[in-house]
Amino acid sequence: MTPPGLRPPPPLGASALAPGTYEDRVVIVTGGGTGLGKAIATEFGRLGASVGILSRDEHHRAAGVAAVEAAGGTALAARCDIRDADSIASAFDDVEARLGPIDVLVNNAAGNFPVPAEDMSPNAWRTVVDIVLNGTFLCCRDLARRLIPARRDGAIVNVGASYAWTGGPGFAHSAAAKAGVKNLTETLAVEWGPYGIRVNGLVPGLMPHEDETAAIAAVPGKYEVQDSRVPAGRVGFPRELAWAATYLCSPYASYISGHSLVVDGANWQRRHTVQPPFIPIREQLNRPPFGESDPPQPAGRAPGPGPGPSKGADS
Ligand code: HXC
Repeated sequence: MTPPGLRPPPPLGASALAPGTYEDRVVIVTGGGTGLGKAIATEFGRLGASVGILSRDEHHRAAGVAAVEAAGGTALAARCDIRDADSIASAFDDVEARLGPIDVLVNNAAGNFPVPAEDMSPNAWRTVVDIVLNGTFLCCRDLARRLIPARRDGAIVNVGASYAWTGGPGFAHSAAAKAGVKNLTETLAVEWGPYGIRVNGLVPGLMPHEDETAAIAAVPGKYEVQDSRVPAGRVGFPRELAWAATYLCSPYASYISGHSLVVDGANWQRRHTVQPPFIPIREQLNRPPFGESDPPQPAGRAPGPGPGPSKGADS
C-alpha cells in the first residue's frame, strides 16, 4: 500500500500569522501579478499589508491587484522592468508616494526557459542572468538606499531555486543566476544586518499554477504523475510558499537572516541508492543532436493550466 505522504495544507484563505500582522506595512512583490508571486502578494494583503505589484505587463499587474483586493487587501500596480535601475527607482517612488515608505521587498520576478547550454544564444544567457541576478540585486540595492538613511528597518525575501545548490541541467542560465541570488542573499544579510534589514531566500518546490510560461509547461513529462515523483506524495500549493514568505518577513522571524528556506517537501534532498539510467539533457528535452536543427524559437506565456494535474494551483 502507498503510504499517505505529507498532509494537505490548511485551506486557501487561512493564514499562519495573526490577522493584521502587516497592518500599516508596505510590501513590494516583483512579478506579483502571476503564479507564485501573485499568491505571495495575496497573502501579504490578507494580513493587512498595502501591496505594490510590480511587473512589465499591465495585464499581470491588474491580475495581481485584483487578487490582493479579492482577499480583502489594498494593492496598487507600478510598471517596472527590474533589469533597469531607473525603472525600479521610479516604481519604488510611485509606490511610496501612494502607499507610504516600503517595509518589505519580495524579489520574485524571474525569467527562465529550458535550453541545452550549447544551444543557448549569448543574448538568452544575458537576458535570464539580467532578470534573475542583476534585477534582484538592483531591487535590493534600491530599497536599502531608502531604508538606511531613513533609519527604517526592513525585510527582503529573494525567491530562489534548489538548483542553485545542485546545478540545473537544461537551465544553465537560471541555475547560475539563482546560485548568485543565494550567495547575494547571504552577503547582503551580513552587510545590512547592522541597519536592521533582514535578507532571506525562499525556494519553491513543484507548485503547479495557471501562469506557468509555455516554455516551462512544455518540458517533456512535466505533468506526468507528479504526486508519485516527490517524497511528499503530493505537489505543493502556492499558498504553502506564501505562508513561508509572510513568516520570513514578519516580526516572528526577527532573528532569521541570511537563510534560504526550501519549501519543497524534501524533494531536492532525494537520492536513489542505485541511480536510474542517465539521460542527457538534449534527450530529455527531445532535441535532435547538436547542429542538426535550428535553435528553438522563444515561447510565450502558457494560455492556461498544463495538461496534467493542477490540484496544487490555488492562486
Ligand atoms: C531559447 C530563448 C527562449 C527559449 C527566449 N530565448 N526564449 N532561447 N529557448 N524558449 C532567447 C531569445 O531568442 C533571445 O535571444 C533572448 O532569449 C531574449 O529573449 P526575449 O524574448 O527578447 O527577451 P524578453 O522579451 O526580455 O523576455 C525574457 C524571457 C521571457 C526570459 C525570454 O520568457 C520572460 O519574460 N519570462 C518571464 C516569465 C518567466 O520566464 N517565468 C518563469 C520563471 S520560472 P536572441 O539571441 O534570439 O536575441 C523560474 C523557476 C526556476 O524561474 C526553477 C525551475 C525549476
